[in-house]
Amino acid sequence: MVAPNHLAIIMDGNGRWAKAQGKPRTYGHKKGRDTLDGMYDMIYNHGIKYFTVYAFSTENWKRPESEVKALMTILKNYLKTSIKRANDRNIRVRVIGTDDNVSPDIQKNIKELVEATKNNTGLQYTIAFNYGGRDEIRRAVTSLAKDVEAGKLKPDDITEEMINSRLDTWELPDPDLILRTSGEQRLSNFLLWQAAYSEFYYTDCHWPDFNEEELEKAIEWYNRRDRRYGAVKEE
Ligand code: FPP
Repeated sequence: MVAPNHLAIIMDGNGRWAKAQGKPRTYGHKKGRDTLDGMYDMIYNHGIKYFTVYAFSTENWKRPESEVKALMTILKNYLKTSIKRANDRNIRVRVIGTDDNVSPDIQKNIKELVEATKNNTGLQYTIAFNYGGRDEIRRAVTSLAKDVEAGKLKPDDITEEMINSRLDTWELPDPDLILRTSGEQRLSNFLLWQAAYSEFYYTDCHWPDFNEEELEKAIEWYNRRDRRYGAVKEE
């Protein structure tokens, strides 16, 4: 069995899961965090080297204020407790997205976690927080435009590699497999540029219920794919 080198997950369904239990949505997010915390060893033991999760999108600010507040509290605690958890496991943590609208204390927690784990060589774990694929591309384009304005670059000389190197994910390989829980079949502004050749896997399982059996089903499915990257497969 060949594991994807880079697995990216859209952790969806916390709210629906909680509703089905007669509990508030926040309870679902807490359970979702617990599910995530139980995944790192499992993922690495399956041979996955890069793991990226969609924790909060640039559009998620539109949720009711109380839910956004609860998510920020969960995230803040998660960032703090992740330092020890990541260092115990040799996990390097990166955070992608923009600082816009993010409180200074959360920005500080992010910097501390990233800094504390930067020399770890095991699982390369990325949290997409306050992240939107279009916003990421816009920021890359702005940065290139500034180089053009400064006379450092000619518009016709802009290559795909240059765009890639200005994305938040510049150090990461593209995701091989993007998995979304809870039945929806959309990308929701996640890794738009990077997903050009990714395989997509959807499961009805809500994120709080996601487990090793579900992960194995996804890897098995991935193994049945025939990845051609736009070329014709050689006979
Ligand atoms: C989708 O569920 C999930 C989110 C908007 C956030 C993901 C957050 C977590 C898994 C919790 C904590 C994560 C970190 C990194 C601390 P939903 O609310 O959209 O569910 P629904 O579609 O059923 O309403």
